[in-house]
Amino acid sequence: MARRPSPAISLPRPDPGAGAPLYLQVVSAIEHAIQDGRLQLGQRLPAERRLAVELGVSRTTATNAYRELEARGLVRGHVGRGTTVLADSMGTHGSAIPWQQRASRVTVDVAGVMTMVQAPNSQRISFAQGWPDRSLQPHDLLDRAWRTIMDDGPRYLYGPAAPEGDLTLREALTVWLRGRGLSIRPDQCLITTGAQAGLNVVARAFVSHGQVVLTETPTWMGAILAFRWAGADVIGIPMDRDGIQLDPLEDALARYRPSLLYLMPSFQHPAGTVLSRERRRQVLEMTTRFRVPVLESDLYGDLHFEAPAPPPLKALDALESVIYQGSFSKIGAPGVRVGWLVAPTTALPILQAAKVVADVCTATGPQQLVARALDAPAFDLHLARLRRGCRERRDALVAALRRFCPMVDFNIPGGGYYLWVRLPAGLTAGQLLPVARERGVDLRPGPQFVPDGGGHNYVRLCFASVPTRDIEPGVRRLGEALRQLMRPLTAAVSRGSAEPLV
Ligand SMILES: Cc1ncc(COP(=O)(O)O)c(C=O)c1O
Repeated sequence: MARRPSPAISLPRPDPGAGAPLYLQVVSAIEHAIQDGRLQLGQRLPAERRLAVELGVSRTTATNAYRELEARGLVRGHVGRGTTVLADSMGTHGSAIPWQQRASRVTVDVAGVMTMVQAPNSQRISFAQGWPDRSLQPHDLLDRAWRTIMDDGPRYLYGPAAPEGDLTLREALTVWLRGRGLSIRPDQCLITTGAQAGLNVVARAFVSHGQVVLTETPTWMGAILAFRWAGADVIGIPMDRDGIQLDPLEDALARYRPSLLYLMPSFQHPAGTVLSRERRRQVLEMTTRFRVPVLESDLYGDLHFEAPAPPPLKALDALESVIYQGSFSKIGAPGVRVGWLVAPTTALPILQAAKVVADVCTATGPQQLVARALDAPAFDLHLARLRRGCRERRDALVAALRRFCPMVDFNIPGGGYYLWVRLPAGLTAGQLLPVARERGVDLRPGPQFVPDGGGHNYVRLCFASVPTRDIEPGVRRLGEALRQLMRPLTAAVSRGSAEPLV
């Protein structure tokens, strides 16, 4: 930023009889000068000593005023170079560009997106993350796999990887996915840098600006963002306890002729629903009739606690209209950043091109790691342990909610990571979250999962990421927050308000 010399600026002298401390009067005089453009971005302010003399105040008052302005982000002091203005009348802070105002449509909710990747905080209990608790991740198995990679002489890790992905991993996936009822060849797979990157690859490959993408509602917020990032209008199709509803789906397919239907048939995120075998067949019949491609997300398909989910749509895909998606993040460890797509042969070159533009290739090391992990006989044991761990956490969460939050409503999922919880009537996630946060418990607000507005009276709780011992204390805090908010509601009703209660 260019620094301009300090011209004489005329600021009113502080008035000792005005009541406000002198240094704050200096602060507001400088603030006004910035707002009305008399002081501009990059302009140098007088040295403290000179400011003190010009305004007839002590040096300490001038120093305190500059400190306060610095704390407010309006100026910055440099030893030997004096103090410069960091803001302007446009509300720009510290930069020639008003970055916040220039944010694109999808990245505007910075805070919402960044909470997706927040590090755990030992003081808080967070049901807001979508990752497996550390104790459910196969760290020993992964350590052993890394060691075998190093023992084999890992020089090949340093060269560029094939854009479609490491052959060893694609071969391992053909074996692994047999467990999900898929019979595929390695050349049908494309490795992605996690499933989120895979969503962006599919969106860039097959969604054009202004087109419509259909999703279940609610659905994974990262998918909504990825499709919007590609310029799509995302339209949600209602679900019932058994997943996406067929009549609204058929209407939307006919009306919008969408570029894609994004679907999670097994242990849907966040609703936990499982699409029956029959509905899977009907969805595929419908989308094929309308010639609409399906992106089938199966990240949670293996994580059943009771009955396994039926085989994926991809297993029924005789006419090659389904792209199937999986990830190591939910069955292994999220930091490894490896996911996969299984796609029709003619779709693959387009997906591959989009992947190259996005990130050239996924790093070889993590791909080798996942290949060796999936091949290891101990991985099945890990998966069984993960299912047991998730089930134990689900049961603890359900029991705690019944005990401490009997006013909320939810379906009990037979697998996956999440509970989709309806709040008592009249209460919104926007009201609940700050109060819960103050009590040290974090959740995710429903509207983030609803593409076209709504979801205000829902919150999502992830049970997989929370150590079992923290679940009950976390839900107790949630119950306190709910009761605190419901007191005024109860009072309003007893005074005859029309607001419905639970
Ligand atoms: C359905 C779905 N897709 C994609 C992702 C992102 O996964 P990854 O860590 O593999 O990028 C998530 C994470 O919660 C998810 O639930």
